[in-house]
Amino acid sequence: MTLLFSLLLGATLMLTLAGSDSPAPASPFPHAKHVVENGMSCLYCHPHAEKSLAAGLPSVKKCMDCHSFLNVRTEAVQPLFEAWETQQPLRWAKQNDLPDHVVFPHHKHLKAELACRDCHGDVEQDRLSQPLAMKQCVACHVERDAGRSCSTCHK
Ligand code: HEC
Ligand code: HEC
Ligand code: HEC
Ligand code: HEC
Ligand code: HEC
Repeated sequence: MTLLFSLLLGATLMLTLAGSDSPAPASPFPHAKHVVENGMSCLYCHPHAEKSLAAGLPSVKKCMDCHSFLNVRTEAVQPLFEAWETQQPLRWAKQNDLPDHVVFPHHKHLKAELACRDCHGDVEQDRLSQPLAMKQCVACHVERDAGRSCSTCHK
């Protein structure tokens, strides 16, 4: 019993240690540097926004398609290089993360001609707005005559 317990404890410790080896969160991502200074489009890094529920995040490889060739080795890009060398994904601290009982389809909103900034604020200037609360979703749905029944947004 004691042996089993210490084996389990050992395994947990090893998992914890392995976890702490993966690259530190590189958030917040410097959007302004990429979007304004280098003219990149939102959809280059968030390519699914027009087609599916989630907008999607870029892989480490996509970052490295540029950063392998750039002579930028500041502290801010360190986690990226570590992630690449250790073949680990980058960990981001997500701000927009609705509970699982809410359905949010990006593609339907973009089809309705809304822009990223209508919900996310001035991302270009690194000023992301607070995540939407239910009353903001409902207010716009009333204004734009979109679905208002509970089952429109809740599963
Ligand atoms: C070079 C790649 C790149 C480009 C271009 C880019 N993003 Fe991002 N974006 C990221 C990465 C990486 C994250 C995750 C890191 C984070 O949340 O800080 C992210 C996160 C986000 C988030 C979620 C933030 C959160 O924490 O919930 C939003 C919203 C967003 N981007 C919107 C945009 C918009 C709008 C544009 C265009 C104006 C854009 N992005 C352009 C890479 C990019
Ligand atoms: C299309 C090319 C391109 C892609 C893709 C790209 N970057 Fe960059 N990144 C740049 C350029 C150019 C700069 C600006 C360098 C400068 O300041 O002169 C930059 C700057 C940065 C900086 C700021 C460095 C500093 O010290 O100011 C960070 C951090 C960064 N990138 C991380 C990332 C991450 C993480 C990804 C993937 C999610 C990514 N980049 C994708 C081109 C790119
Ligand atoms: C009508 C409001 C609205 C619009 C317009 C919108 N978003 Fe979002 N976005 C959200 C909400 C709400 C979430 C949180 C979704 C969740 O947690 O399920 C989110 C999450 C995200 C995330 C986090 C990760 C992911 O994959 O979903 C990114 C990145 C993002 N949006 C980028 C964009 C980009 C780029 C555009 C424009 C092309 C855009 N969004 C347009 C409301 C919006
Ligand atoms: C700025 C306005 C706006 C905001 C904010 C907004 N929506 Fe919407 N939503 C719309 C419009 C417009 C449509 C498209 C209606 C249509 O196609 O008839 C839509 C459609 C939808 C649909 C698809 C409904 C269907 O019948 O297919 C869902 C689900 C949804 N929104 C959920 C949300 C949730 C959840 C939030 C908050 C996190 C939100 N929306 C925030 C304007 C908005
Ligand atoms: C237009 C989209 C939309 C509609 C319509 C909607 N909700 Fe929500 N609801 C959300 C979002 C987004 C959240 C999560 C963010 C928040 O808690 O504000 C949420 C959260 C909730 C929560 C959890 C609150 C909490 O504190 O965790 C409850 C309960 C809820 N909704 C009930 C309802 C009921 C009942 C209806 C119908 C009368 C309804 N909702 C209609 C989008 C919607």
